[in-house]
Amino acid sequence: MQMTDAEKNNMGRLTRRSVVGGLAALGIVGAHAGSSSPSRAASRLTPYGVAVGLEPFRHDPLYRQALIEHADIIVPMNMLKWASLRYDKGKIDFERADEIVSFARAHGKSVRGHTLLWSDYNPKWVDELSSAREAERVLVNHIEQVVDHYRGIIPSWDVVNEVVAHDPLEDGDWRKGIWQDLLGARHVEIAFRAAARTDPTAKLVINEYDLENTGLRYDARRNAILNIVRNLQDQNIPVHGVGLQAHLYAERAIDQKGLGSFIQTLEQMGVKILITELDVIDWRLSRNPVKRDIGVANVVAEFLEAVYAAGRPESIVTWGITDRYSWIKDVFKRKDGAPNRPLPMDRNYRPKPFMDVLQKYRIL
Ligand code: G3I
Repeated sequence: MQMTDAEKNNMGRLTRRSVVGGLAALGIVGAHAGSSSPSRAASRLTPYGVAVGLEPFRHDPLYRQALIEHADIIVPMNMLKWASLRYDKGKIDFERADEIVSFARAHGKSVRGHTLLWSDYNPKWVDELSSAREAERVLVNHIEQVVDHYRGIIPSWDVVNEVVAHDPLEDGDWRKGIWQDLLGARHVEIAFRAAARTDPTAKLVINEYDLENTGLRYDARRNAILNIVRNLQDQNIPVHGVGLQAHLYAERAIDQKGLGSFIQTLEQMGVKILITELDVIDWRLSRNPVKRDIGVANVVAEFLEAVYAAGRPESIVTWGITDRYSWIKDVFKRKDGAPNRPLPMDRNYRPKPFMDVLQKYRIL
């Protein structure tokens, strides 16, 4: 991963405005972003995105300011999920998702859609579906309506989320859940077909967790993803990307080799990598905040080094931007009671070493 002298020079000269202008000209960020032509360095920049929670978005002006300042891409964290859009059967409510999408567009940001199918966070009536016929009808109808609503606005979708079993060695490739239970492996094909049919220009992504580390379970999970991609391609169903969620456990080793060959195999199949939910699970790191922030940044650097050694990701999205708001505290609370520090900015919106690592890799 060598930088030319010209690129090193450009690093110093890049301003956010020139970068965003370049991305806009390339169609990577929204048309409002700027009009300057892309410099060579800007054309090599990996766009950075943030998943946005509705509550802080509505109530914390500093949160919105951080998004305006730092994000090229906005991902509604929960508002495009079934339980948000379709709480009541027979109704679809885009209002809250549109609130975030409109903000993104008004500020020249691109948007990623998360997610058209997941076995979690579905409304009760979906979990109660009981026939394959009804499940397919409901699933196709949902994807058509949602993708159509955002046609020309959301260019990239997590079509399916977390469809691989937590441990494929124990349970086989597929994760159990309403769609798998009623439709079997076909649920992924149905979802991708419906999305492709509705917006043939959209980039369609399989989004998955636990693909980065060393161990047989991780090998099996990477293999399961490759099987799914192969199966879709064998049937001429378009699949453009694999999303590495990258909720990184600080105490687990990144599998440089395994992750690298996974990315290269996908590349040979014409499938890109995206980093879709990056953050660091810091529950086992030092209590000392300075040491912890360095530990967190090191994990991110180790991960990005492995990814960039194998190929450039299409985008890097973090799951939130400030330690003030993150799901990590709900699931990976520290035993010593110290607040988690999983994201690029601290609770007071000061950039942490994590942010410096992002800046470095985005430009490589
Ligand atoms: O909005 C309500 C709020 O009004 C209410 O007061 C509060 C009380 O619990 O709940 C709020 O809703 C919560 C919502 O997050 C917003 O904070 C839901 O209960 C909670 O279930 C929901 O959790 C989200 C979870 O997905 C389930 O959808 C997390 O924020 C979100 O970070 C998490 O994201 C997932 C990705 O989609 C897939 N990959 C893993 C990732 C982390 O679990």
